[in-house]
Amino acid sequence: MRFTVAIDGPAAAGKGTISKAVAAYFDLGHLDTGLLYRAVGRKVLDAGMDPVQAAKTLMAEDLNAEGLRTAAVAQAASKVAVIADVRAALVDFQRAFATRSGGAVLDGRDIGTVICPRAEAKLYVTARAEVRAHRRWLELSEKDPSLTLEQVLADVEARDARDRDRIEAPLVAADDALVIDTSDLAISEAVAKAVAHVQSCK
Ligand code: C5P
Repeated sequence: MRFTVAIDGPAAAGKGTISKAVAAYFDLGHLDTGLLYRAVGRKVLDAGMDPVQAAKTLMAEDLNAEGLRTAAVAQAASKVAVIADVRAALVDFQRAFATRSGGAVLDGRDIGTVICPRAEAKLYVTARAEVRAHRRWLELSEKDPSLTLEQVLADVEARDARDRDRIEAPLVAADDALVIDTSDLAISEAVAKAVAHVQSCK
């Protein structure tokens, strides 16, 4: 059976946690599409590769690479993500995953709008920038204790602006997405809302 759940939203809004929980609850595959852009960004940073070439030659193994979750790679990812040919090179992989038998959850920025506009269930997960930066800072400062909350907030805001203002597949909620603001919700409450919405789309 084909069943696609599209989950979009800005950085550190809780998409990843919600996507994993929804995938586990309904026994669906899960693809974090941010990893594709991070893997391309990493090749550009580390090997000086041309971004379009890096996207065209991306392999599934690249998504498991260590070090994709750093602030530097996140910025590099959002820079390569503005390039139309980079995005185009990543479409087939994402659509193939979305239509796999057994169903799938994909999370990213343009899943409900561009990659899977006909997804059976759509969510747009968001939160206030300060709340998102604080969450990301808690995560990243474990590895890098010198990182300040202000730096992380500036990074998150720069990335949001780049994602929202780009011409190609900008970050925006699909008209038919349920918006969940997780700023004042416990994880369990946010997950319960998401699961209830997906259930209602089945
Ligand atoms: O979700 P994550 O923070 O890992 O995404 C990293 C960057 O990849 C985002 O800031 C965005 O620029 C880009 N991205 C995108 N489209 C997606 C997923 C991620 O443009 N579907």
